[in-house]
Amino acid sequence: MRIDIITIFPQMFEGPFNHSILKRAVEKSLVEIHLHDLRKYTTDKHRSVDDYAFGGGAGMVMMIEPVDRCLESLQSERNYDEIIYLSPDGELLDQKISNNLSLKQNLIFLCGHYKGIDERIREHLITREISIGNYVLSGGEIAAAVLTDSIVRLLPGVLNDETSALSDSFQDDLISPPVYTRPRKYKDWKVPEILLSGNEKKITEWKHERSLERTKKRRPGMI
Ligand code: ADE
Repeated sequence: MRIDIITIFPQMFEGPFNHSILKRAVEKSLVEIHLHDLRKYTTDKHRSVDDYAFGGGAGMVMMIEPVDRCLESLQSERNYDEIIYLSPDGELLDQKISNNLSLKQNLIFLCGHYKGIDERIREHLITREISIGNYVLSGGEIAAAVLTDSIVRLLPGVLNDETSALSDSFQDDLISPPVYTRPRKYKDWKVPEILLSGNEKKITEWKHERSLERTKKRRPGMI
């Protein structure tokens, strides 16, 4: 899989992409992540990528030209399955969307800023809009990093058996059961006896019951 991210703050991705699972996935060549600085695609002498909104109103609006030029340059090299704009009013990200996107070959994520992007970009150039939640971030970068992480960890070979994505919360429409590690007793707080019993069948049943219980309580709509 290849993910191209268009942003005015490429450095913002250095943290999330250079650690842990994402870093390993890139090192193992299971995913290629390319960051594109939008300012490199402007023809404006001041390298502006935004301008005042026609009709007035607070906030600057991201201009079409740099985005269009960047997309043209990428699309002249390969076909993209989706060109996704990260936006608070997009479809709400969930596990199903991430699963579906993890099956694609080439994706573009466009990170917005300011008051938004010229509507014509959304109308003519973008194929999908995704939000990571009903709140407003300062820009699309953190949302793009979240989306990237949720997709890349699903790619074959990225996780090992122990961290398998199949046992994640939400993957089978249930929240994961609680987990425990050493010591068996800390202060007065004990690990449930059943987990120490060695009885695999009973343990599997117990985990399933706890998952159901948690899901009913925390996400009743999922059941
Ligand atoms: N940009 C700003 N807020 C966002 C959100 N909640 N999701 C995706 N992109 C955003």
